[in-house]
Amino acid sequence: MSTAVITGINGQDGSYLAEFLLEKGYTVVGLVRRTSSEDQKLTNIEHLLKNQNLVLEDGDLTDSSSIWRLVQDYKPDEFYNLAAQSHVGVSFTSPESTTEINATGVLNCLEAIRNISPKTRFYQASTSEMFGDNTQVPQSEITRFSPNSPYACAKVYAHNLVVNYRKAYGLFACSGILFNHESPRRGEQFVTRKITKAAARIKLGLQSSLYLGNLDAQRDWGYAKEYVEGMWMMLQQDKPDDYVLATGETQTIRDFIDYVSEAAGFNLMEYVSVTSTNMRPSEVPLLLGDPTKAKNQLGWEAKTKAKELAKIMYESDLVKEEKHVK
Ligand code: NAP
Ligand code: GDD
Repeated sequence: MSTAVITGINGQDGSYLAEFLLEKGYTVVGLVRRTSSEDQKLTNIEHLLKNQNLVLEDGDLTDSSSIWRLVQDYKPDEFYNLAAQSHVGVSFTSPESTTEINATGVLNCLEAIRNISPKTRFYQASTSEMFGDNTQVPQSEITRFSPNSPYACAKVYAHNLVVNYRKAYGLFACSGILFNHESPRRGEQFVTRKITKAAARIKLGLQSSLYLGNLDAQRDWGYAKEYVEGMWMMLQQDKPDDYVLATGETQTIRDFIDYVSEAAGFNLMEYVSVTSTNMRPSEVPLLLGDPTKAKNQLGWEAKTKAKELAKIMYESDLVKEEKHVK
């Protein structure tokens, strides 16, 4: 039986990856960090907690001793580093902690693996945000990075480090350059979930307005559940490499609002106000991925596109919000 470590196991992707690996018969070791709101802590993996092949370990990506202990204790076959301060907007207000988690945290993982368990295969959660304001599309593994936020700058550092550790030490280390992927488990501060949750609440009379920022940004949105399989596929190859995972289609935030309006049966745009507090100091205007390499070499392809995804997320939020209606 193989063992996999997942950092960020309670995040959107971590929870789907844990489900996927447990179904494949893996022992999954999830890293969770302590928060003061214990009762909310494990929402995304609550349904997995009774699985005997799931072990949770306390730790923090920025605390190298906790990462070294994890690698020492389990010497895992695979290590998926999904933990991050993942909100681009927040990285402008908390740039230092974002850098510690998203850049130095990755160094901590690679050093632990290099020194203790060099056979461990490593996956790094790289991102399309690294393309930043380079609007040359479609964006692929060879497109120039032009990061446009502290979040993206830290992710570029981590991405380069993975390439370097692969070359310098021969580690089996891969980066998935993933374009935006969403689901009903998406954090509520990200734009898609903010929109689908608000639409459900407006439909039920629980809310009367939705405040957003830049509606013209374009994103390549896929379904998170499908993307975690691509992560696993990268670690099953003969050689380590980096791959873009994307749908190959792009839409504006306005388009996403239209899709949700269609699913909800009313014009959500009538409730939207644009506020400067939801704008970022610098923006990533256009993301459109070219997933050809992943298709040809991994056999991976995105199936669910943004319109269907909007419906899935809206319907899930409607069920959740109905519980608040007396
Ligand atoms: P997410 O839902 O925000 O999950 C991130 C997880 O990381 C959370 O469980 C969080 O724990 C944990 N974490 C944060 N700081 C930590 C630390 N210092 N030590 C240990 N754990 C820590 O993010 P996601 O959407 O699943 O994304 C997964 C990864 O893919 C992230 O690295 C993200 O940057 C990257 N990525 C995401 C997308 C996307 O569209 N979703 C696209 C490209 C790349 P708490 O619950 O304690 O906060
Ligand atoms: N969050 C948010 N909230 N975004 C808004 C809002 C709002 O009220 N209004 C407009 N937007 C715009 C943002 O300015 C951005 O252009 C776009 O909606 C998407 O924002 P997010 O959903 O926060 O995602 P992101 O694209 O910035 O980052 C996500 O995808 C990256 C991959 O490209 C995150 O998951 C990152 O962790 C990931 O790396």
